[in-house]
Amino acid sequence: MSITVLEHTLVPVCGPEDLEIGWGEAAWIDGEQIALFRTGVEEYFAVSHHCPGSEAKVMARGIVGDTTIDGTRVATVACPLHKEVYRLDTGHCLNADTAPLPVHPVVVHEGRICLEGK
Ligand code: FES
Repeated sequence: MSITVLEHTLVPVCGPEDLEIGWGEAAWIDGEQIALFRTGVEEYFAVSHHCPGSEAKVMARGIVGDTTIDGTRVATVACPLHKEVYRLDTGHCLNADTAPLPVHPVVVHEGRICLEGK
């Protein structure tokens, strides 16, 4: 089921209570494996579940953390296999010259965590 709000298509995925802070969950959405993360009380991210390093479907089991870049806190996830660290907001890899992790915009709409533009 998808909802069109102000010309944006939103795909409801789950409620905030379904995501534990500091952990990831995998979801199958429109034929794609997505890794969802809750990194704060009201901070959510969605990225591909496939690690760009090997295409292994492991990112929801990654190690959630953060770092500071230019004075700003940035949420990160480290791949559980080879520990490449990706920004959750942009998908850029911080410790290797590898392809970025695809990211998906997340919004909270009517109490549901939704992917935007799917
Ligand atoms: S499989 Fe993810 S860093 Fe190698």
